[in-house]
Amino acid sequence: MDIKFEDKVVQITGAGSGFGRKAALEFSKAGAKLVLSDVNMAGLDETMSLLNLTDDRAIAMNCDVSNEHDVELMTKAGINHFGVLDIAINNAGMAHEMARFDKISLKEYDLSMAVNVRGVFMCMQNELRQMSHQGNGVILNVASVAGLIGAPLGAAYSASKHAVIGLTKTAALEYARKNIRINAICPAFCYTPMVDQIIDGERGEKRERDMSMVIPMGRLGTADEIVNGMMWLCSDQNSFTTGQALAFDGGLTTA
Ligand SMILES: NC(=O)c1ccc[n+]([C@@H]2O[C@H](COP(=O)([O-])OP(=O)(O)OC[C@H]3O[C@@H](n4cnc5c(N)ncnc54)[C@H](O)[C@@H]3O)[C@@H](O)[C@H]2O)c1
Repeated sequence: MDIKFEDKVVQITGAGSGFGRKAALEFSKAGAKLVLSDVNMAGLDETMSLLNLTDDRAIAMNCDVSNEHDVELMTKAGINHFGVLDIAINNAGMAHEMARFDKISLKEYDLSMAVNVRGVFMCMQNELRQMSHQGNGVILNVASVAGLIGAPLGAAYSASKHAVIGLTKTAALEYARKNIRINAICPAFCYTPMVDQIIDGERGEKRERDMSMVIPMGRLGTADEIVNGMMWLCSDQNSFTTGQALAFDGGLTTA
């Protein structure tokens, strides 16, 4: 996508896989400097080698977004290295085992909330402190269509993504006059390792067909399509949109 982020500092959580990795590669191509993190260090190392940078325009660190100390350290490390934080993409997230409402364990519920909600909340707090100090910034939270509508067999996931949209809208209103734009992107099923896990294996093909059937366009999305959306949402061209939870979903939430 022909949007430039020349020397903008972009922080991406969950950059060791899927959307996060793709975003790292595309923002880098568009000129950005990167602060990347994940709990999966092998995945993050692979992202770093795919970036193929010969200078220090990207730093990478282990950060469990549900851990307060890790999140503080990540933000500080980025500021120490680059001096500013222009754009933050709170992308790290997890999906629990698909199961009917009454079969989801409290452990899975708590973990979904810790990573998907507490994680985004703590990242946003640190980002907002820094961006308020700078007087500008852009935050993009990766929610899901499951944050806009119910998601059968994904109750805890759906609740966590609804919460991400609540955090997004509230912060957008609080910081609208502080030159900080905050939006959420809401993808439907896309081909990333998160979804590959569901469509691999014995009943995989049927699951993939079932997933495609609920999407009006009749197919799953790609990481490219989501990252193109992320780039536009984070760019200076998108200067009057804040507090939105924008669906990239092949028409799913229109039906
Ligand atoms: N793929 C889809 O269909 C889809 C649809 C809607 C929303 N999403 C959301 O997109 C985001 C990215 O997912 P993806 O599809 O690229 O999946 P993915 O599994 O490929 O990537 C998620 C990354 O987040 C990291 N992560 C997990 N828990 C973490 C934690 N506690 N701290 C830090 N990092 C952690 C993982 O290690 C992984 O690298 C997630 O928030 C997910 O909920 C995905």
